[in-house]
Amino acid sequence: MAIGTDIHTAAAQLRSGALVAIPTETVYGLAANAFDPEAVLSIFTAKQRPAFDPLIVHVRDRAQVDTVVRAVPAAAEALMERFWPGPLTLVLPRRQSVPDLVTSGLDTVGVRMPAHPMALELLHTLDFPLAAPSANPFGYVSPTTAQHVADQLGAKVPYILDGGPCIVGVESTIVGWEEDQCVLYRPGGIPVEVIEAVIGKVGQAQKQVLPVAPGLLESHYAPRIPVHIGVIAELLKEHAGKRSAVISFQRSYPAAWRNHVLAPTGRMEDAARDLFAVLRAMDNSAAEVVLTEVFPQEGLGRAINDRLRRAAAKRA
Ligand code: TXA
Ligand code: MG
Repeated sequence: MAIGTDIHTAAAQLRSGALVAIPTETVYGLAANAFDPEAVLSIFTAKQRPAFDPLIVHVRDRAQVDTVVRAVPAAAEALMERFWPGPLTLVLPRRQSVPDLVTSGLDTVGVRMPAHPMALELLHTLDFPLAAPSANPFGYVSPTTAQHVADQLGAKVPYILDGGPCIVGVESTIVGWEEDQCVLYRPGGIPVEVIEAVIGKVGQAQKQVLPVAPGLLESHYAPRIPVHIGVIAELLKEHAGKRSAVISFQRSYPAAWRNHVLAPTGRMEDAARDLFAVLRAMDNSAAEVVLTEVFPQEGLGRAINDRLRRAAAKRA
């Protein structure tokens, strides 16, 4: 394993069918040639990711979308125009050229154009798009620095392209279409309200998209130590006597063993950017439990609450 900033080394590895960890504005991705089934298979192996969980295909421009997607609804066109490059993934009808493994056999594929300059430069160097999930072992907290990737997947990734800490810090928002209605699959780096300002109402997904029992993917983004979400003052009483690491939005909790205030000035962007790094740091400390609160359910707060709820969910 090597960490570096050489786009050409990264490109050479990817052309040879190897994995490369790449920086994006949201989190680091574990990338492979999206058209090479063997390379894609090695992503699943490295992450120990179940085959029913599809990958996002990263494209360099609008034209490359047409190499993986059959049809683009007008609203999707408007969203690409407005938010790409950026933290928005669109789930669209796929072409047969996309390996089944990428889409978990679904008739759709998730596509996005990342905003990180090194990711874009890399994509422009290559003549294929990159399939990439977040570069963490399945179910664990997503990585927002090259070192996070090295710590956990270093032995399985020949090259980690270091683009510095991710500036958005939570994964892309994922939307798709059900009977011509745009629906939300995952809240993320672009708030749903901002999307609605462009295309009107975004619905809740009705279909069970992934072929798994509901709840199986409920626990995710989870550190090794248990996470509890609620009213921090009460959680501190419940967990009295333990080394409690508190993650709070604006208020500080001097009674906690450790307390990280994510956004002292109330900027939700700050909270999103640092959330995963703070969860990791607490997991690597002597803390026995992470206690956190519900963030304001608006803007990026929706993505933060989604990640915290799933970090706190019961494990299968
Ligand atoms: O910001 C991001 O989206 C990051 C960076 C690396 O781009 N990627 C990421 O990938 O978060 P991952 O694999 O951790 O999450 C991808 C999720 C899947 O778990 C699934 O929920 C959804 O995207 N997805 C992908 N393809 C889909 C499809 N065809 N239909 C429905 N959901 C899909
Ligand atoms: Mg992930």
